Amino acid sequence: MAELERYGHGGDRLTAAERFGGRPEEFLDFSSNIHPLGPPPRVLEALSRALAGERPQALASYPDPLSRRLRDKLADRLSVSPEQLLVANGAAELIDLVVRVFRPRRVGVVHPCFSEYERAAHLHGCSVVSVRAKEENRFVPTEEELRFLVMRSDLVFLGCPNNPTGLLPPKPVLERVAAEAARSGAVLVLDEAFIDFVPGGEERSLIHRLSSCPTTLILRSMTKFYALPGLRLGYAVGRKDWIERLLDHKIPWSVNALAQVAGEAALEDEEYRRRAERWGRAEREELAGWLRQVGAVDVFPSETNFLLLRLRAAKGRGASGRLQERMGRRGILIRDASTFPGLDDRYVRIAVRTRRENERLIAALRKVWAEWEGGGEG
Ligand SMILES: Cc1ncc(COP(=O)(O)O)c(C=O)c1O
Repeated sequence: MAELERYGHGGDRLTAAERFGGRPEEFLDFSSNIHPLGPPPRVLEALSRALAGERPQALASYPDPLSRRLRDKLADRLSVSPEQLLVANGAAELIDLVVRVFRPRRVGVVHPCFSEYERAAHLHGCSVVSVRAKEENRFVPTEEELRFLVMRSDLVFLGCPNNPTGLLPPKPVLERVAAEAARSGAVLVLDEAFIDFVPGGEERSLIHRLSSCPTTLILRSMTKFYALPGLRLGYAVGRKDWIERLLDHKIPWSVNALAQVAGEAALEDEEYRRRAERWGRAEREELAGWLRQVGAVDVFPSETNFLLLRLRAAKGRGASGRLQERMGRRGILIRDASTFPGLDDRYVRIAVRTRRENERLIAALRKVWAEWEGGGEG
């Protein structure tokens, strides 16, 4: 396991500070995929009001175990019934919960993918069936690969869009795979943690087709688009009896009162949503263009707020880790993607941030590259 991903993920500022020196908050973090605009202003206002006592006892009472106010607002926004929704402590809680509740013998995953799917499978004693998506398909699984997985697993996790690629299969493929899952009885878990970043994401989702996909469950996160990973918030959408089962097994107060307040305010902040959506595509394409100009990396296409890169020149063993190290010493964190099964030490992943921050990334990359080309140590 690469040093900075010691606990499995990017965004670990404390480990970065231990390794590179400096204060944790000083690092510019391209290693976790959080919206660079920061939390919506309305969230910050609502949290201050809640702490100042507008919602009496926000801290001194137990939170609503069903997050009813937030659930109802989400139901309204998504045009689903509140009984089809379960609010949780981040999508991460739901990944664990679905494995715990459905008790699959075999869990299917497509490599490369978010590591928590396999971790949950192993923790709960399941075996893992995997297919390795092909680089020539930009690591997007084909319909055949997905059908294979669905037929051989009791529960399949699929990132839509996937981490670390930022891509998702076409909707007709998802529909046919969901139909196959319904026939074979497999649970198909579509992880849409990043769908808010995808232009037209809501139309790409199967969220409004769930009535014809009875074994499909959708997971979403509010920590990425609304920049709230420290508060933790996510939700599942699926059939009512499944949502009830999941609720029965969930820790009752896993969604704290402030997270619930924040979630409600985030949904009300239409101005933030508009700004956040405007930011997305233009910055990603700009950054991808700059990276291509730097020349030393191949940039995979992405539909979301992060980019998978492949180091072009053979830089020897551990190249991705050494690039991460050199950037870290310059105060910039990037994700060493060699820790994703299905990738190797030629791959890194970076988040798209603000224009100025992206410029700093490019400037640092150019310097590291010049050192590297000049035969500097590393
Ligand atoms: C694909 C994917 N799903 C789920 C999560 C977890 O999201 P949350 O912060 O809502 O627990 C992540 C976090 O990186 C992720 O990349």
